[in-house]
Amino acid sequence: MKKDFKKNILCIGAGYVGGPTMAVIAHKCPQYKVTLVDVNHERIREWNSDRLPIYEPGLDDVVMAARGKNLFFSTDIENSIREADIIFVSVNTPTKTFGVGAGMAADLQYWEKTARQILECSESPKIIVEKSTLPVRTALAMERILNSDHDSLRFDVLSNPEFLAEGTAVNDLLHPDRVLVGSRLTDSGIAARQQIVDIYANWVPREKILASDVWSSELSKLVANVFLSQRISTINAISAICEKTEADVTRVARAVGMDHRIGAKYLNASIGFGGSCFKKDILNLVYICKNYGLNEVADYLHSVVKMNDYQKERFVENMLQAMFNTLAGKRICIFGFAFKADTGDTRESPAIYIAKRLLEEQADLVVSDPKALRNAKEDLSDEGGHVEFIEDPYQAVSGCHAIAVLTEWDLYKSLDYQKIFQKMIKPAFIFDGRNIIDHQRCFDIGFNIYPIGKPPLTHLG
Ligand code: UDX
Ligand code: ADP
Repeated sequence: MKKDFKKNILCIGAGYVGGPTMAVIAHKCPQYKVTLVDVNHERIREWNSDRLPIYEPGLDDVVMAARGKNLFFSTDIENSIREADIIFVSVNTPTKTFGVGAGMAADLQYWEKTARQILECSESPKIIVEKSTLPVRTALAMERILNSDHDSLRFDVLSNPEFLAEGTAVNDLLHPDRVLVGSRLTDSGIAARQQIVDIYANWVPREKILASDVWSSELSKLVANVFLSQRISTINAISAICEKTEADVTRVARAVGMDHRIGAKYLNASIGFGGSCFKKDILNLVYICKNYGLNEVADYLHSVVKMNDYQKERFVENMLQAMFNTLAGKRICIFGFAFKADTGDTRESPAIYIAKRLLEEQADLVVSDPKALRNAKEDLSDEGGHVEFIEDPYQAVSGCHAIAVLTEWDLYKSLDYQKIFQKMIKPAFIFDGRNIIDHQRCFDIGFNIYPIGKPPLTHLG
């Protein structure tokens, strides 16, 4: 098999990052054999089936086009390592939940296990590429483990952070703003880097492929996420001011975002950001800063996460206050559980926190979402209280006192709110945590509307 292809590329970890990234590489580079392996056999079975394990617009087409030709999914990690020339590592690196750095530092156990497995199974030199988001200088640990044995084998450890966002992963991969490849600035490091650049150059314009040293590359990924999440926390902080001053956060964001130095993106006020990266990456940097004694920097960065937590809690408190200071026994329909639209992913979704808080207030919940109900069930499996999961929004709202819009699915913009109003208990409330529905129209139908960062529209006097 090997001689038919220019190179064998392996990706360890077939998740939200590894899956789409490798599918696009395989699709764009038929001359390479691309294999994805995972310890999770069920996941690999799904990658090989008609129903892929993750929902991502456009992904099915890309996978189906390459699967079985030069894209393979396997659980045979050892042999795949042996055969590989280039190994991308995209195993999960969650926040540590135990011991030193719990709740802050990255848990590198899966990462280190992978490094050791690569060392154990390798019989030829390889290029190892960090794809998972990692603390700055993790490549050094990888290098030390890999070069701790086999005097004769050489491993070059590179950083090639992934900037894709879920829901737009395929498009982000096909048309990236930039591709970053960091290496040691030695002859061998630079040669290895060129091999990775050559892969992307099959479809990414050369001027968008940035070569860098490893540490700057690792850090850039974290810093990009700091900038993006900081914008969201800033506009969310402003949304709280707007609610007190009758200003409208959407108008403020528009006016501010038209300044080309600021730009219009990531200025949508919301119930807060979720997703597997933002919080994790910030806390990871906070932890590193503290380790280096940079306490002021750590506090500054940490405030982005604190503001995000505050925004979620503020949303629940606004609901409580608007609904006459009690939610006990009231039926609340949650529109959207995914952390953003166009994904079934619920990792760090603000909906988890909000749902749990509403249950604490003894509300009954009906959770509706077009793609995330499987994950939502898991997220709420340990919660007491009354929770139902109903995909059809018209059925879900039946007998409810309120709707909380928590994910910006297009679907919720175009529902028949007249029909929905008729099915609900009066006075009926909508808390639009994403500012996506037509507030005036729903108010005219009879709803009491509570947007984020705008004056509420109510019939309650
Ligand atoms: C993010 C980065 O965008 C991506 O580059 C990185 O590789 C991984 O982390 P992702 O978490 O998939 O990607 O989604 P993103 O679109 O950035 O949204 C993150 C969260 O911010 C979502 O919960 C989203 O709803 C929220 N958000 C985004 C807002 O609340 N307001 C905005 O204006 C934009
Ligand atoms: P990400 O969003 O970073 O892609 P995921 O959790 O979706 O994170 O994917 C990471 C994948 O890595 C999971 O499918 C997990 O089973 C896999 N994984 C973790 N450790 C290993 C390992 N040692 N070998 C192979 N796969 C692993």
